[in-house]
Amino acid sequence: MNAIIAPSILSADFARLGQEITAVEQAGADWIHVDVMDGHFVPNITLGPMVVEAARKTTALPLDVHLMIDNPDEFIGEFAKAGADLISVHAETCPHLHRTVELIESSGCRPGVVLNPATPLSCLDWILERLHFVLLMSVNPGFGGQSFIDASLDKILALRQIIVRHGLSTLIQVDGGVNAQTIGKIAAAGTDVFVAGSAIFKSPDYSQTISGMKAAAAE
Ligand code: DX5
Ligand code: ZN
Repeated sequence: MNAIIAPSILSADFARLGQEITAVEQAGADWIHVDVMDGHFVPNITLGPMVVEAARKTTALPLDVHLMIDNPDEFIGEFAKAGADLISVHAETCPHLHRTVELIESSGCRPGVVLNPATPLSCLDWILERLHFVLLMSVNPGFGGQSFIDASLDKILALRQIIVRHGLSTLIQVDGGVNAQTIGKIAAAGTDVFVAGSAIFKSPDYSQTISGMKAAAAE
């Protein structure tokens, strides 16, 4: 399967957000990744449904909303209404994970569950088959521009084996420190969807960067 590239707008120029989204769309992006942070679950604050609504007006690409917030159930409906296509929630924030996944589905979005680097894959037991994707964090969430944690590779491999063993079509998404240098090994471990913020938005030529990443992922 071809690599799905999801630029994270966290590293975009917010004063020109519409143009930035159009630019990555024209450069070959497949999804637009939107990082929502609340200053509680993670030590940073970013954006809310209003920005998703604005992004929705600028692109037809799937909007992939990564919720790094406490009590995500309270906001899923609003993000869905604002135009999210995919919504992921951290297992660490969801005491009733099954209910939260059902809420994402019933609001018309595709559900994903996110695991922090030190959160075990066993959190996905009994829910994996309901998920459209699993997002494995390869940095501790909160900021763009951090280095890829190499221990994530074994975790990706292990999740790939579970997905194959159960005959599932669940996608594996990886987020944090993905760039032209790291994407090859991340792809080889079994990743389908690659989130990249700084590697794309801080590069001089989005098109060259995205095609370089797709080529390196296919090697
Ligand atoms: C981190 C966010 C990421 C972030 C990735 O908490 O979830 O999506 O934007 O940034 P880079 O690609 O710069 O590591
Ligand atoms: Zn993210």
